[in-house]
Amino acid sequence: MMTTNNNAETPASEDAAVLSGAAKVETGKSLITLEGLTKVFETEEVETHALSNIHLNIRQGEWVAIVGPSGSGKSTLLAVLGLLDTTTRGTYLLDGKSVLDLSASDRALVRNRHIGFIFQSFNLIGDLTVFENVELPLTYRGMPAAERKQRVEKALDKVGMAHRARHMPGQLSGGQQQRVAVARAVAGDPLILLADEPTGNLDSKNGEAVMQLLSELHKAGATICMVTHDPAHARVATRTVSLFDGRVVQDEQRR
Ligand SMILES: Nc1ncnc2c1ncn2[C@@H]1O[C@H](COP(=O)(O)OP(=O)(O)OP(=O)(O)O)[C@@H](O)[C@H]1O
Ligand SMILES: [Mg+2]
Repeated sequence: MMTTNNNAETPASEDAAVLSGAAKVETGKSLITLEGLTKVFETEEVETHALSNIHLNIRQGEWVAIVGPSGSGKSTLLAVLGLLDTTTRGTYLLDGKSVLDLSASDRALVRNRHIGFIFQSFNLIGDLTVFENVELPLTYRGMPAAERKQRVEKALDKVGMAHRARHMPGQLSGGQQQRVAVARAVAGDPLILLADEPTGNLDSKNGEAVMQLLSELHKAGATICMVTHDPAHARVATRTVSLFDGRVVQDEQRR
């Protein structure tokens, strides 16, 4: 499932993928390595050290919960991991390749090909159907229509939303929208799933359903990095990394 190579079924347009040529990911290998990662936001009045000298290694198959008080840098860390934001200092290896010095367009390629995002507010496109929402990142990737259809159907099936493929997001409950967002994140077989408070906008029943879904994905081999405020949800993860003032202050491995 988790390959980073451009195999025969991917089109030539993907040849530019910067992580191409990598062999199949071995179990337990290091997927993410951060060394001395620092992110400073400079505004007119203040400098904010959102992340200070972060060293972090995430292995394939781990489920990491990122916790910490408001403003401790959790979302900034996730944005950096997801190549949505740049850094001030430090190194970031994704699957063994340095990704901080990439051009913006190469970063976008890596993001599209290797990273699956799940946001607190679902971020589905309101005027696209459920099917089209899940399909869109695959279209950007240049994947042929037949393979897209197969992938979208499989992903929607996985999250129990196949019967809503022709619905619009506005016709779904919050829990259902988040399940569609999970399908969108996994449809492309990313190296890692990044989730920023995936249950934050859901009632407890729907929140539990999304956690259950993440558990199933994890059991099937997904690597997950999830920001959460909920200690019970953090305990489901295999490891909890605690941030305070942009620093890792605790790193607890449970299994
Ligand atoms: N674009 C920005 N410009 C300036 N400062 C920022 C920016 N984004 C974040 N910060 C600052 O960086 C610090 C870390 O913010 P971040 O959003 O990562 O916190 P968080 O841990 O996700 O908090 P929360 O639990 O409230 O979501 C905060 O002090 C915040 O004010
Ligand atoms: Mg946040």
